[in-house]
Amino acid sequence: MIGNNWISRDSAVSWHPYTQMKSADEVLPVDKAEGIYIYDTSGNKYIDAVSSWWTNIHGHCHPYMIEKVTEQLKSLGHVMFAGITHPPAIILAERLLNKIGHDHSRIFYSDDGSTAVEVAIKMALQYWRNKGTPRNKIIALKNAYHGDTFGAMSVSERGVFTKPFYDQLFETVFIEAPVRGNEEVCLLQLKNILGEAGVAAFIYEPMVQGAGGMIVHDAGSLKKMILMCQKAGVITIADEVMTGFYRTGKLFASEHFGVFADLICLSKGLTGGLFPMGVTSARSFIFDAFYDDDRAKAFFHGHSYTANPVACAAALASLDLTEEKGFVENVEKISELNLAFVEKLKLHPKVENPRTLGTILAFEVKTVKNDGYLSEVNRGVFRYFLSKGIVLRPLGNVLYIMPPYCIKTEELEYIYENILSYLSDL
Ligand SMILES: Cc1ncc(COP(=O)(O)O)c(C=O)c1O
Repeated sequence: MIGNNWISRDSAVSWHPYTQMKSADEVLPVDKAEGIYIYDTSGNKYIDAVSSWWTNIHGHCHPYMIEKVTEQLKSLGHVMFAGITHPPAIILAERLLNKIGHDHSRIFYSDDGSTAVEVAIKMALQYWRNKGTPRNKIIALKNAYHGDTFGAMSVSERGVFTKPFYDQLFETVFIEAPVRGNEEVCLLQLKNILGEAGVAAFIYEPMVQGAGGMIVHDAGSLKKMILMCQKAGVITIADEVMTGFYRTGKLFASEHFGVFADLICLSKGLTGGLFPMGVTSARSFIFDAFYDDDRAKAFFHGHSYTANPVACAAALASLDLTEEKGFVENVEKISELNLAFVEKLKLHPKVENPRTLGTILAFEVKTVKNDGYLSEVNRGVFRYFLSKGIVLRPLGNVLYIMPPYCIKTEELEYIYENILSYLSDL
């Protein structure tokens, strides 16, 4: 593999996501990954400290996942999901609904996190149309990130990611996020909006707003907000795309406060990080508004690869692994180690607001310029950690880790040590 000029060949043909190609640093060409490690084409290994954009939960190339996916590939690779069904999709929907509970009765398959959100938004809006009482307003949280498609962008923060599209995004009402100490403001803003006519839905990332900067919520305040919406008859949408599948220490982040939304979006960890797939889970009353003699009330949405059997098989294998002995204990071990490290970080003069929830740990690196996502800290961090054998891609000056759950204590401690060295080298 060495000597194939992957870097220059890539720079001639690839257009990388979230990357200014003109000033981008050299990419890391990789051709293998196993467990928590990614290997470059020269054989050097790197800890995947961000779980490949928060998708991987069991480690790379997990033998059981490979076995199950290979088995599936040999019998049914793909088939359309309109007018046709197949066991992996049925079994996955059954198992997910069983885990979600709370009167959720339907699973709608799509392709990724953005489309899971897009589907939820469309379901919420069409729900009101089908009922004959159209409502158009959607409430979202400041600093929200729900994906890159137009609907998902519309309910996401108006910031650097969405700026070129402002004119085309539909209007959304943004309110303060329920971080500690903010409850009064949040509830008041929400109360005022709920008093207006035409509010269709409230969308939120439960407990941790990911791309907005790993903002951790106060569980009690968020719970009150959701209950207020549900009392007002406004559809609630939990975007658990990042937080689902034990990322925050519990199967779903909504479990931290015990209130489930009417629509739940899942992706990322759903397939254990192996295949793109999104699902939107719906409560019975939502589905009932579409179930009608009038064919025009159907949900006219579907992607070519909806319910791809191989992705379903990966998701089923991933669920099996989450049910194995020792799985939850691993998540708890990471959570405890993170808690102890946050205490250390609290004392560090170059660190602001260290925080953790489950397998996520984050803090701001104090910077002179308050330049957010475009912070120069971003670039330096990636290169620095690569040189230490760690893949860590910050969000502006927010440095965070979110490893696969099979990481060992000494490997996590190696990341912590290197975070401290990075800070002292600053
Ligand atoms: C909370 C949340 N929602 C939606 C998305 C979009 O998911 P995808 O990148 O798979 O489209 C993300 C991606 O990071 C996310 O964190």
